[in-house]
Amino acid sequence: MNSSSDTFNFILPAKVEFGPGALKKLPDELLRNDFKRAAFVATPGRKRSGMVDELADPLTGEGIEVAVYDRVKENPDVESTAECVRFLKENKPEVIIGLGGGSALDTAKAAGLCYTNSFEDIRELIDERKPRRKSLPTIMVPTTAGSGSEVNYWAVITDRLKREKLSVGSPSMSPHMALVDPELTLTLPAVTTLYTGIDALTHAIESYFSSISNWLSDMLSLGAVSLAVKSLEQTVDEGGDLQARCNMALASLLAGMSMENVGLGLIHAMSHQISGYYNTQHGLANAILLPNVLEFNASRCRAKIRSLDSLVKGRNSFKKWLFKIYKKYGIDCKAVEINEKDIPAMSEKASRNVNAQTNPAKADVTDIAKIYRKSFKAFVIHQVR
Ligand SMILES: [Fe+2]
Repeated sequence: MNSSSDTFNFILPAKVEFGPGALKKLPDELLRNDFKRAAFVATPGRKRSGMVDELADPLTGEGIEVAVYDRVKENPDVESTAECVRFLKENKPEVIIGLGGGSALDTAKAAGLCYTNSFEDIRELIDERKPRRKSLPTIMVPTTAGSGSEVNYWAVITDRLKREKLSVGSPSMSPHMALVDPELTLTLPAVTTLYTGIDALTHAIESYFSSISNWLSDMLSLGAVSLAVKSLEQTVDEGGDLQARCNMALASLLAGMSMENVGLGLIHAMSHQISGYYNTQHGLANAILLPNVLEFNASRCRAKIRSLDSLVKGRNSFKKWLFKIYKKYGIDCKAVEINEKDIPAMSEKASRNVNAQTNPAKADVTDIAKIYRKSFKAFVIHQVR
């Protein structure tokens, strides 16, 4: 084996149904498990688009009672998750179906675990001393290709009072099933495709570089990077290309499986603070931090960086490929404004974030502050009143 660790443990994910048309298997799955009451957890947009009804109607036709919670927020917070818990208490489902991007899937998983354990507040899940009963079964139906949330037991929920994104994870929150139908991503707007795709790519890179990565996680992570390098641009340029959409959906899935087991790194530890403070789109925050964190980690990951370079043969290096993508789509730090006076607190929070623990190079608060300043140096620093 040529990997970071020859000795490892690995949690295998939920049952996965993958491929165009996979969605049609939803009624069978519920019937097979004798689920009589289902609750959808989705964003208002999914409800408006008719997608919720499209999935719910066949279930109703099979005699399954369906309730719909369609108030999931982008960057879900403690309050919105608590509202979803109250909805579950009122409707008492036997299975929860999360439908949407990472926000909907994370809300479904976190609310499901709170509901099962009679917690009112997601913050109670962070207290490791509390006993946790396994969550009510959740079926994850991603409509983007990026979060990896469909196959892992993590949820990212914002605590707006503390201006912090909480990474909440527990094996008790593992999904029952991931139902990944790439056809659902065919109509995603280009900008959403780009930022969710970069999120998947970032998961793949960070899990590949993780200080506790192992042979199996490396295979998954590298496979995910390879698929993203092959198909990210194509999904942004030609959204209707089903093969490219399948590749990015698979990249998200593979990276999600890997990161569940070996964690992420400094990019996520830092980008969660940016999104917590400024509500910045997660993939964009990752994209801005990615080159500078790669550089910070470079001395610890030389062999793995060479492996990334080999995936973009003919394009010189992975970094050059990345910058070509950024240039083509106009990604630069001017897209987000941050305030200098927030950097010390954000750096301190990032250093304590669970994702920082598996970054290959240890970073203290000063290192992190430097990366924030370097990544966002072109910004106008505003005085917030
Ligand atoms: Fe992410």
